[in-house]
Amino acid sequence: MQTDESLAAYYARRAPEFEAVYARPERQPDLRQVTGWLEGLVRGQDVLEVACGTGYWTQVMARSARSLVAADINAEVLALARAKAYGQCPVTFLQADAWSVGDVQGSFTAGVALFWWSHMARSRTRRFLAELHRALLPGALVILADNLPLAGAATPISRTDAEGNTYQERRLRTGERFEVMKNYPSEADLRAAVPGAATALSYTPLSYYWLLSYRRSA
Ligand SMILES: C[S@@+](CC[C@H](N)C(=O)[O-])C[C@H]1O[C@@H](n2cnc3c(N)ncnc32)[C@H](O)[C@@H]1O
Repeated sequence: MQTDESLAAYYARRAPEFEAVYARPERQPDLRQVTGWLEGLVRGQDVLEVACGTGYWTQVMARSARSLVAADINAEVLALARAKAYGQCPVTFLQADAWSVGDVQGSFTAGVALFWWSHMARSRTRRFLAELHRALLPGALVILADNLPLAGAATPISRTDAEGNTYQERRLRTGERFEVMKNYPSEADLRAAVPGAATALSYTPLSYYWLLSYRRSA
């Protein structure tokens, strides 16, 4: 069973090898699209980024955002993120839990969570969005992206629980093994999780990733 603690522990251990996922040659065209999409959406925005990891996307957003607060639960990934350069954009890193991110203080015009959705149980996605919205100004932009399911993927689904959450067996370079929840929401699942009062919802499936943006209610 995955707990919040076991997921955090997996990413703490995976931190040194995490960015290998962004070096896969076949994913480069999609990653370029995600980069352009994200850079455009956050232009001039005061951004709160949840589960920022090693700062890979923080660095992309820093090119155009007005300010960034990037949060993650793990000191290990935050140390890697802090070591990167962010140009002129003021970037603050916080050790904070996604499940209480509404407590983060700021006047955020955009909330971003990338490659986080797949690790949430299906029954918790609405709660997460409510928590994220709590941190954002009325009418703020919400920006989400994650993996699409891949036929013949290198890491197959190992089991499905009673609620429909799917899991993978992951192995790190150290040889350590973890069972990690990895959900692949459909467009309908995503639309159903977003509150009805949201506006300007846009869903884009690429080859490897889905992209979603909307405005929270004013
Ligand atoms: C798949 S990684 C994504 C990292 C980054 N957003 C990216 O796309 O490169 C998931 C991240 O979630 C973080 N995480 C795990 N549990 C968390 C929690 N409860 N609150 C905040 N971050 C968490 C992990 O430390 C890890 O950095």
